[in-house]
Amino acid sequence: MRKLIIGNWKLNPLTISETQKLASKINTFSIHDVVICPPTLFISSVQYPILGAQDCFWENKGAHTGEVSPLALKKLGVKYCLVGHSERRNNGETELEIRKKIESLLSVKIIPVLCVGFGTTVEEDDLEVTDVLRGQLTSALKGLEASPVVVAYEPVWAISSGNSYNHKTATPDHAEKIAMFIETKFSVKRVLYGGSVNSTNAKSFLGQSHIAGLLVGGASLLPGDFNKIINTSL
Ligand code: PGA
Repeated sequence: MRKLIIGNWKLNPLTISETQKLASKINTFSIHDVVICPPTLFISSVQYPILGAQDCFWENKGAHTGEVSPLALKKLGVKYCLVGHSERRNNGETELEIRKKIESLLSVKIIPVLCVGFGTTVEEDDLEVTDVLRGQLTSALKGLEASPVVVAYEPVWAISSGNSYNHKTATPDHAEKIAMFIETKFSVKRVLYGGSVNSTNAKSFLGQSHIAGLLVGGASLLPGDFNKIINTSL
């Protein structure tokens, strides 16, 4: 079964030429749908079949200094846009802003990838997690036609732990349960897992029937690793 695998390059690399070089090393053929999200500044310089953005504003034009227009992203050919990533929530992004971004993206026909997650330790149990996610998902999706929205479940403690000695991910079993919860309670069709995914653990998540794909940060900057992830057979 075809899954959706999104590479989130975050604030890397720093120049157009390095960005193009990195993109050229990522396989363009895969048994899955693969999306690359470069830094906004470089989206138009990257050649890749499916491109995504890491964030946007909720207005398309006007007096909004420094913001990124969803409509301008659409015109660049962007197909997906992350919204509500935990690194943005940590910088003060509110539930209301997230909601407005989702509505705006849907109106220009870019698929929002709503990131939800919670927790500071691996110890949180499923019930604590679903309580927090219920709040995040309700304010982001209530009253909307949610089926086009992709949701990425990323336990906050698992993000960017990939290269450290203490590398932590959710168990595939926990991620699968949360994916089922999101699908059934919020009429979402595709739920991804993210948080320290690499070429060694990708298959254990992709093999779960309710996990529709992956959101990959650090490992998407390593072409060798990322190419293995996007060619994981199931
Ligand atoms: P990571 O990042 O794979 O480096 O943990 C995931 C993310 O932040 O989306």
